[in-house]
Parts: sequence; structure tokens; C-alpha cells
Amino acid sequence: MPHNVAVIVGSIRKDSFNRKVALNLIKLAPASLKLEIVEIAGVSFFNQDLEATPPADWTAFRNKIKAADAVLFVTPEYNRSVPGVLKNAIDVGSRPYGQSVFDGKPAGVVSGSMGAIGGFGANHHLRQTLAYLNMPTLGQPEVYLGALSEDSFETDGSFKNAKTADFLKKYMEVFAGWMEKHARK
Ligand code: FNR
Repeated sequence: MPHNVAVIVGSIRKDSFNRKVALNLIKLAPASLKLEIVEIAGVSFFNQDLEATPPADWTAFRNKIKAADAVLFVTPEYNRSVPGVLKNAIDVGSRPYGQSVFDGKPAGVVSGSMGAIGGFGANHHLRQTLAYLNMPTLGQPEVYLGALSEDSFETDGSFKNAKTADFLKKYMEVFAGWMEKHARK
């Protein structure tokens, strides 16, 4: 039976390069994985006051992550860190205290940016949070996709650079093995 992987994209803009990267990762993944983007655009701001009667969008988001065996984060870098919209979704999923939907789920982190260092800062700030959330996170290979632009993609959304596609395919194979090893039975 395929393993379910929730893919969380850290950018909510329509033409996001990271969303394109995520769609490529989904396409390139081995058949043992069933990947689905879990949208975060509609997850309202975390506010502990709302915890007694959580908004329906929080519950829907939490349930989707709960149903997944692993989480793959694909994110841009904002001001050398994680976009607020992504941090918000993580905060929502992490509460109430002791009931985090992320707890123990294996994770992968892919960062993509227009800049030269491929979102390194966001990638590693995110890893700090995932360590706290008790998510075993794949260390190698690292994926920092730099210099992303409209020009990086074919009109069908696939990567123009075959080497990039090949690297991401290998990444997904390693990620499949990682989650096989660490997913809770
Ligand atoms: C950026 N961008 C950016 N890039 C980077 O490499 N390091 C950074 O710290 C930042 N900071 C930053 C802050 C804010 C508020 C914005 C809007 C943008 C540029 C970023 O890489 C670029 O906008 C990407 O295209 C964002 O990813 P998506 O939306 O294409 O997936």
C-alpha cells in the first residue's frame, strides 16, 4: 500500500516557483508514495484564544496532516527565514499542546529561491522547528534550488534542466526509503 505524504508549499502565490517544484517532486516520486499538496492559504492565524472552539479550517488542516505518514516541505525563503504563512500553518498543526499532528512524522525539506543560495536560511530555520516537533528529517541529500525563474520551467511545468529533474528524482527515492524507515507502524 502506498504511503501518504502531505506536501506543504511555503508560498501561496499563484505562480509560485516552489509550487512548481512541488509538482515536479510529486511527478518524480516512486510509486510507493502517494503525495498530495495540503493547502495552507486558508489556515487562519493562530490565536490560542480560539483553541476551545477551533476554526473549521484549523481542524481540516490538522486532519489532513494526521492522515499523512510523512510531510514534505517545499518552501521559499523570506528575509532569510521561513515565510510567515508556513510558520502559521506549522503553529496551528502543533497545538493543542501535546496533540501536535506533526509528532513523529518523517519529514523532508526542499527550498527554492530566485537567489543564489537556494533558500538555505529558510531551509535551516525550518529544520530547527522540525527538530522541536520531533520529526525525523532527512539530512542528505540537501536540496537548495537557487536562481529559480520562469525560465527554469517548460510550459508544462517540468524542469528545463534534465540534471535538476534527475537530482530531484533521486531525492524522492531517498526520501521514500527514509520515510519507510521512520514512519510509525
Ligand atoms: C523574498 N525573496 C527572498 N529570496 C531569497 O533568496 N532570500 C530571502 O531572504 C528573500 N526574502 C524575500 C522576502 C519577501 C517578503 C519576498 C516576497 C521575497 C525572493 C523569493 O525568493 C522569491 O520571491 C521567490 O519567487 C518566492 O518563492 P515563490 O513564491 O516563487 O515560490
